[in-house]
Amino acid sequence: MRTVRTIAELRAAVAARRVDGQSVGLVPTMGSFHAGHLSLMAAAREACDAVVVSLFVNPTQFGAGEDLDAYPRDQARDAELAAAAGVDLLFAPPVTEIYPDGFATAVTVRGITEVLCGDPDRRGPGHFDGVATVVTKLLNIVAPDVAYFGRKDAQQVAVIRRLVRDLDIPVRIEALATVREPDGLALSSRNAYLTAAERQRATALHRALVAAERAVAAGETASEPVLAAARAELDAAAIAPEYLELRDADDLTAVTAVTRPTLLAVAARVGRARLIDNTVLEPVPQPAAVPAAAGAPGEGAPTQ
Ligand code: PAF
Repeated sequence: MRTVRTIAELRAAVAARRVDGQSVGLVPTMGSFHAGHLSLMAAAREACDAVVVSLFVNPTQFGAGEDLDAYPRDQARDAELAAAAGVDLLFAPPVTEIYPDGFATAVTVRGITEVLCGDPDRRGPGHFDGVATVVTKLLNIVAPDVAYFGRKDAQQVAVIRRLVRDLDIPVRIEALATVREPDGLALSSRNAYLTAAERQRATALHRALVAAERAVAAGETASEPVLAAARAELDAAAIAPEYLELRDADDLTAVTAVTRPTLLAVAARVGRARLIDNTVLEPVPQPAAVPAAAGAPGEGAPTQ
């Protein structure tokens, strides 16, 4: 594996792989690799001839007072893990390479960035401007055939799918399943902030999702009972969610019933960590109505 720090070096290295028609997969990351990142790299390794991983803690997606300075960084360990995962190129630029002096452009995806994590009363859509801008830059720099993201950040995936469609970026977006600890806790670089006791409480996020899945599997479709089942698990762990919401799985519009695949998304602070998780609730198929048999007694069939 080669580590490159400039856009020019990366473009030259990718171009060298392209000469004989090799396919390129990109895994954008902010480092601090865990099994979730490694699953994205494994999928890229399986499907593509050349695998590029970007490692860049993107300052523009952190709001004021967020954990930009504290965000876990260990490039030496990350490089070892990426090499072991079969990555060909690790792109680890300094901030000035991505945002040189005078940088003045932002990519804004309207609508879906203004709910959930982008709600103006919470973090605001600025976080997603930062994500959309850096991902657009990475897609332009690497020009991959496929780019891989984790479904744990379902809103991020929706935003990236939208911008790729809207800006006609010729890339396939693959969103892979959330990787979890055996007790259900979704892997996240921010889990490193949790004390042992907080980590235990944080497992309630997954229990909340499972409780909602069970309610829907039992035939519940109305949003309030589904949300109440999830909320009960958070309450039991003394977690007050930033949000716990049902949304259309594609465009993130609010829904009041689970009548088609529906995203249940949760965000909560546990200790110093702001955690997110989600599941897609699949409604139980309703049996087709059986037409009344003609002439059956009591069905209003004409009597002779
Ligand atoms: O999910 C992340 O790690 C980041 O938001 C991403 C996509 C690498 C952009 O900085």
